[in-house]
Amino acid sequence: MANPRRQVLGLASASLVGGLAEAVVLVLVVSITLVATGQTEMVGPLPVLGVELSATHALVVAAVLAVANIAVHYVTARLIGRLGTSVQSESRTAAINAFLHADWNRQSLEREGRLHETVAVLSTNAAQATMSIATGVTAALQLTALMTVALLVDPLATLIVVVSGLVLFAGLRPMSLATRRRSAAFLDATGDLLTSLTRSTGMAMELRAFGVTETERLRLERQVRDTAERNRKMRVASRFGQTLYRDLAIAFLVGAVGLLYLLGPEDIGAVGAVVLLVIRAANSSQGLQVMRQQVSEWSPDVERLIERIDSLRADAHQGGSTPTDHLGAIRLEQMSYAYGDTPALEAVDLEILPGESIGIVGPSGGGKSTLMQVLMRLRTPTDGTVAVDGLDYRCVRDSDWARLVALVPQEPHLMEGTVRENAVFHRDGVSDGEIEHACRLAHIWDEIQRLPHGLDTTLGARGSGISGGQKQRLAIARALIGSPELLVLDEPTSALDAASEERLRDTLSDLHGSLSIVIVTHRPVPLSVCDRVVQVVDGQLGA
Ligand SMILES: Nc1ncnc2c1ncn2[C@@H]1O[C@H](COP(=O)(O)OP(=O)(O)OP(=O)(O)O)[C@@H](O)[C@H]1O
Ligand SMILES: [Mg+2]
Repeated sequence: MANPRRQVLGLASASLVGGLAEAVVLVLVVSITLVATGQTEMVGPLPVLGVELSATHALVVAAVLAVANIAVHYVTARLIGRLGTSVQSESRTAAINAFLHADWNRQSLEREGRLHETVAVLSTNAAQATMSIATGVTAALQLTALMTVALLVDPLATLIVVVSGLVLFAGLRPMSLATRRRSAAFLDATGDLLTSLTRSTGMAMELRAFGVTETERLRLERQVRDTAERNRKMRVASRFGQTLYRDLAIAFLVGAVGLLYLLGPEDIGAVGAVVLLVIRAANSSQGLQVMRQQVSEWSPDVERLIERIDSLRADAHQGGSTPTDHLGAIRLEQMSYAYGDTPALEAVDLEILPGESIGIVGPSGGGKSTLMQVLMRLRTPTDGTVAVDGLDYRCVRDSDWARLVALVPQEPHLMEGTVRENAVFHRDGVSDGEIEHACRLAHIWDEIQRLPHGLDTTLGARGSGISGGQKQRLAIARALIGSPELLVLDEPTSALDAASEERLRDTLSDLHGSLSIVIVTHRPVPLSVCDRVVQVVDGQLGA
């Protein structure tokens, strides 16, 4: 990635050089016209340089400068394009990193579709805003160059033009504020629409099964219309703000020419050059106004992008750094957890010995899943401690923790990809032998062998292509790869039939003693292999 400061400097120099070249070409064109119509003999004396040129020499200089201008504009376009691309990719990377590094509590609260919106919409518009600012800087510098030359040709006329331009620019501020307000409203509606769409995609089956597809369609259609309406309002403000400037500038020009007519100027050459420069300058300042409207349109995106990245960063996951080989005994002492102000677990004392299997039972909403998440270090206790072999578990190095502790969640997520990819799940150095061993332990190996391409069979979105029970067992195999010392299972049999449940019981008894197991379940079959059963009721532990 090129250094942005150098890019901006390059852009500024190119714009100044381009502006000067263009101004000189315009002055030369007027002067050559005067020679051609027989009003003067020579071109010049030229401003600053003070030299006189023959019409032929002046033509050659003008042609060279005109061609040079093409090169300058090519360089400018490249620099602006590069600046926009780097803003887009860097802000995307920053948003993705901030999300992935946020703690799980924060991630679980993230609105559906929000990261999608940040990466797809906000960072694209932030890049557009950057390119608009860069284009604006270019236009401002070109304008400066043009006005400098004009000032040398006719100071008074130029001053009048500059002051009028500034007044006009300041007078149009309400337009850019209106654009900004409307753009923020449009952005809110787009965000809501994306959230709804993500939700509908995930719930397509339920929508169909409950026969409410039509209601959902109408709801989404309303949102689309609302978004379109806000978009329309924003575009009208933005466009009108852009053209209004040009229209007012033309009105000013008419006034200025009228004034000129009344005053009766002496140097027709100078006036001609200034008029040309002013028209060109009006073009540049129109560019400035367009850029200002566009920046107003996109600045809410930039603000939100920064806000979101900062807020995710504020909730960054705090990992440990102590290298740890073994978990040993896991001890929860007076451990409490609250969701905000609502306590979910209170003063829990629990010891899990190496190789021990513990069943967790209790009524719905009692706090079992919360306890599993605290045990997994997905949520950190709001009070009390969890220690492994005497060490506060928050200190354990992240990579060690992930290897030593494995989870089979209540609703495992599988991804689009092969069975092998789902079993390995991004971890390095997993051999086929390990996969087979884990799949055999999870009692899914034979069924994988019967799939059309075995381990290389591709599963669809959310792991479609295998049954609910197979998904559950594949999730168990995924957890067993890497030989964890603690296996946490949250209601693993909820989707299983009696035969699958028997297979899970076999898995648990095969594993019994070789690692610690904590299993949340209401079923007697898996509980039968547990060394002891603990009840969680209203956030408290009982035997
Ligand atoms: N993300 C959350 N934010 C706020 N409150 C939550 C959250 N998750 C759970 N709770 C609340 O915490 C309490 C314990 O929930 P938890 O999911 O741990 O129960 P559970 O014992 O696993 O229930 P179930 O058997 O139904 O799965 C409940 O009152 C629940 O409403
Ligand atoms: Mg639960």
